[in-house]
Amino acid sequence: MTRYASVLDLIGTTPIVDVSALSPKPNVTILAKLEGRNPAGSVKDRVALSLVEAAERDGVLIVGKPDQVLIEPSSGNTGIALAMVCRLRGYHLKVVLPSNVSPERRQLLLAWGAEIIDSPGTQGSNGAVRLAQRLSAEHPEWVFLYQYANPANPMVHYTTTGPEILADVPEITHFVAGLGTSGTLMGVGRYLKERRPDVQLWAIEPPSGEMVDGLRSLDDGFIPPIFTDNHGAQLLDRKVVVRPRESIEWTRRLTEVGLFVGLSSGAIMSGAVKCANTIGDDDEATIVTIVCDDGWKYLSTGAWSDDIDDVIERSKKIIYF
Ligand SMILES: Cc1ncc(COP(=O)(O)O)c(C=O)c1O
Repeated sequence: MTRYASVLDLIGTTPIVDVSALSPKPNVTILAKLEGRNPAGSVKDRVALSLVEAAERDGVLIVGKPDQVLIEPSSGNTGIALAMVCRLRGYHLKVVLPSNVSPERRQLLLAWGAEIIDSPGTQGSNGAVRLAQRLSAEHPEWVFLYQYANPANPMVHYTTTGPEILADVPEITHFVAGLGTSGTLMGVGRYLKERRPDVQLWAIEPPSGEMVDGLRSLDDGFIPPIFTDNHGAQLLDRKVVVRPRESIEWTRRLTEVGLFVGLSSGAIMSGAVKCANTIGDDDEATIVTIVCDDGWKYLSTGAWSDDIDDVIERSKKIIYF
């Protein structure tokens, strides 16, 4: 057994598992990196710690100083991960959250001691971003880490997730991941392309106007500054649109290989299968995908138990991500 000084030391170095039993082609290997194994339950643990440590290095946050307040818009994993890191560091976190977010999200944030500020449910995550921007302008004493524009977000994927993938899968030919803030794709993508220019980068996004957990369509009117700063349009080889129904179907299929995971992982797996289908029968390929989180906080979607049409209808009214 290994002994760790802090839960924060458990972030990263996640396992990769072979899920090729779901590959449509025998010559295409599909591997999934299990980010749900991080202590607060998602890939965003890496980002939350990276954002806070960068602010501490820059003197924006001071360890041990009382009454320091952070504000962040997040309907999902970043808020939860930041809440855990802030709890350990003694910072007070305010999370701006659309009012129609699922009960699991709210409960987890409260469990980690965060304060919730409601933004209008009808405006979704873009509304939460706008309210957080306004509040932070009104309160310059609050620290706004803003994962959508903060270079510490892609940087942690460049320094940790990317190197872990290349060390574990030197034969990688494709990296397929979801696009939310774009931090994962920009950081891992840049790391891989610098070392293996032939590796193909595929981004998974929902159709404009439709919701898939954690992911956003760049056609919905908001392009994250980190995407532009990292020349995302040039970096990515392909964007694949995955609809909510496919994400639920593949979230269910992943249980066949023993993975109980969040709905974005189903979307990404669906994209990986589309990627596999483009490989010729005489070519070998190794696709690496990201499983962003586990299924627990999506149970109230009914994604594993209910009629898929009902799940999709429900997800239009309640934000599960
Ligand atoms: C569940 C889930 N999937 C995918 C993503 C997308 O990751 P990124 O923000 O690095 O693009 C996120 C991030 O918001 C997420 O929470």
